[in-house]
Amino acid sequence: MGNTQISIIKSDKLSDNQSIIYILKEDNSLESFHFSGDEIKFIDYQRTELKKELVILNRFAYWIYLVFTKKAKTQAIMLENLRKAGAKIGNHANANGVDILQIADCDTDVPSLLTLAEGIVLNNYQFLQYKSDSKEKANHLQKLSIISKKLSENEIEHLKVTSQATMWARDLINEPVNKLNANDLAEQISKKARDCGAKAEVLNLQKIEALKMGGLIAVNKGSVDPPTFTILEWKPENAINEKPIVLVGKGVVYDSGGYSLKPGSSMETMKCDMAGAAAVSAVVWAAASLKLPVHIIALIPATDNRLVGNAYVPGDIITMMDGTTVEVLNTDAEGRLILADALTYAKKYDPMLVLNFATLTGSAARAIGSQGIVAMQADARGFFDELEESGNNVHERLVEFPMWDEYKEQIKSKIADLKNIGGIEAGAITAGKFLEHFTAYPFIHFDIASPAFLEKADSYRGLGGTGIGVRLVLDFLNKFPLKE
Ligand code: BES
Ligand code: MN
Ligand code: ZN
Repeated sequence: MGNTQISIIKSDKLSDNQSIIYILKEDNSLESFHFSGDEIKFIDYQRTELKKELVILNRFAYWIYLVFTKKAKTQAIMLENLRKAGAKIGNHANANGVDILQIADCDTDVPSLLTLAEGIVLNNYQFLQYKSDSKEKANHLQKLSIISKKLSENEIEHLKVTSQATMWARDLINEPVNKLNANDLAEQISKKARDCGAKAEVLNLQKIEALKMGGLIAVNKGSVDPPTFTILEWKPENAINEKPIVLVGKGVVYDSGGYSLKPGSSMETMKCDMAGAAAVSAVVWAAASLKLPVHIIALIPATDNRLVGNAYVPGDIITMMDGTTVEVLNTDAEGRLILADALTYAKKYDPMLVLNFATLTGSAARAIGSQGIVAMQADARGFFDELEESGNNVHERLVEFPMWDEYKEQIKSKIADLKNIGGIEAGAITAGKFLEHFTAYPFIHFDIASPAFLEKADSYRGLGGTGIGVRLVLDFLNKFPLKE
């Protein structure tokens, strides 16, 4: 993994002969910019007649990008428009061999400056690991300077670390299982932990067996590689929370479905089934790198779901870490099995809140597509509302699904305590109810099945792994002192 991020710097002064971005509001006049008469005519035409929100002027040695912000329904939508404008500018710059961009401050507010920059940085991500001509394919854009006296070093640092974390998550997701099995994932996470001061511990098969993690063991029976259970912890001395926040991430490094084999094409993208694991690991790395005053732990159960000789099969009854018996009726509903044991393990921390991230169900994907995250909460109303607001801020939006107890009927088994599938209806919710069974603390579950991985590039969210969840939780942690 070797993605290099654009370097972001803060500067006091515009450099001559370098491309410049201006963010303009509807009432900004163009007078102070010293454009020529022809240029003004061109800009007005593009803006008023062609209704362009991004107007690009060529100055031969460099380019001028004018971003005209329109009034949007909400501040959050306005900011998202800036991220998208950043992506367009980045694409134009790369197509034209531009290696440095400057963002000017035209009386621009700080969130707008930072958010446009975020769009540019995230858009510049590439996964070129396996391209022989990666040097030629690499983006030209390498440096972004924000010319503003208003920005603090801290704000720049936040932007850097948050986007780096997002891109690291993308890297992990984009690695296929033949390059990143459960053990490799645990190693990558441990290696990253070392450079930010977080603590990483990896439980091996023996320890997993000693803990009787029946869900993780059952799913792993179809694999030739052993499972891992990684515990990542950031516990600063100045932590403002007494009880930790625990993040749980689904780490299925590849999901073939097992004996309940997936049909052909739906297996193509299943290296993404550890996107939850990638997101929670990246959050802890960022929290530690930024030295956020929060005690936070990530739990990452990892295995592939495949089908060698002794694999688990439909009909098996397994005993989970907490003693619950589960009738496995579909080996493709494996995520909830490995997560259940992690949720049981989380109880030992007496957590103030547990956030679970998983590419869990096709049902969630069908319900809302890739435009947001299906989320459910149990006993965590206040936290959920905060996260929903963060979701809007960073455009990783949440759609709340109900956790009504009636849904639990669907996962009762005739011969065991639970079965691992519900019916054809409300599949995302019955999966959530299955998880909830193993919790005893405020709990929020995020089903990121669809937005975690894009088969077609979408603006700054890129192609392949998106790193969804990283910016969401970091935004939430940043305003954390305000909460109960
Ligand atoms: N990893 C899949 C869910 C998924 C689907 C992720 C599409 C990303 C994109 C999960 O393990 C799964 O197979 N879920 C089954 C559950 C069913 C058998 C109850 C599903 O949703 O079909
Ligand atoms: Mn599956
Ligand atoms: Zn899966």
